[in-house]
Amino acid sequence: MFLKAENLFVLDRVDSTNNYAMAMIQKGNAKDRTAVFAMEQTNGRGRRGRRWSSNKGDNIILSISQQMQWMPISQQFQLSVSVALGCFDLVSKYAPGIVSVKWPNDIFINDTKAGGILIENTIKGTLWQWAVIGIGLNVNQIHFESPNLNATSLSIATKKTYEVLPLAEELYLFVLNRIDELKAGAFLGLLETYNQHLFGKGRIVKLKKQDEIFETKIIGVSASGQLITHNDAEMGFNFDEVEFKGLL
Ligand code: BTN
Repeated sequence: MFLKAENLFVLDRVDSTNNYAMAMIQKGNAKDRTAVFAMEQTNGRGRRGRRWSSNKGDNIILSISQQMQWMPISQQFQLSVSVALGCFDLVSKYAPGIVSVKWPNDIFINDTKAGGILIENTIKGTLWQWAVIGIGLNVNQIHFESPNLNATSLSIATKKTYEVLPLAEELYLFVLNRIDELKAGAFLGLLETYNQHLFGKGRIVKLKKQDEIFETKIIGVSASGQLITHNDAEMGFNFDEVEFKGLL
C-alpha cells in the first residue's frame, strides 16, 4: 500500500531539517504534524552534539513538528519511546526479525546502527509546546565514512534498493500512529513493546560512566527512561550518565 503524508515539505538541500522545522515553529508558521524531508543536509545534527552525515538522496532525513501541550515535559521519554517504535515498525516491515532499538532511541539492524532520532523541544514557562522529531534512517547508502564506518542501512541488510520518499511517507505515518497510541494512554504497552525489542536485553554490555568502563547485564528500560542493569544488585542509569562501549 502506498501511504501518502498530507503535510510533507520536500527540500533539495537544507542545513538541517530540524532547524527548518524549528524556524517555522519560532515564526509561528508551523502546523501540527507537518513534516520536512530533505535530500541533503549541510549541517545534519545528531545527539550529544555529533554530526549526522548522509549521502545525498540515499537516506531518510525527516523532521516532524508535533504539538505537545497534551503532555508534561517531564514525560518526554514517552515520546522518545513512541518515535523509536514508529521507526522500528517501518524498518522491521522491510527487514523483519533483525531490528532492535538501542536505548534510548537508536535503530539497529543486526547489531549495527541504521538510524537515529534527535528530538528538540520548545517550552513556554513549564509547559511543553512543540517537539521537532528529527529522524535519520539509512536506506540505500552502502559505504560510510569515518566516524560512521560501522553504520548499516536497509539496503545492506536486505540487498535491495528502495524509493526513499515513499518510505519516508510511510515512516511518517508509522510514527504518528505510535504517537496516537501514546496520546490514547497506551504508554505502558508501548514501553513493553520497546523493551521486547531492546538491543542487548539480557546480555552483558560494557558501559562507560565518567572515566570508568564496567560490565553489566541489561535488564530493560524503566518508565522514566532509565536503563536498568544488574550485577550484584539492580542499577539504573540516566541517559547522560553512561555511554555504550559494546556488547560482550
Ligand atoms: C543521532 O543518532 O545522533 C540522531 C541523529 C538524528 C539525525 C536526523 S536527520 C533529520 C534531522 N535533522 C538533523 O539535523 N538531525 C535529525
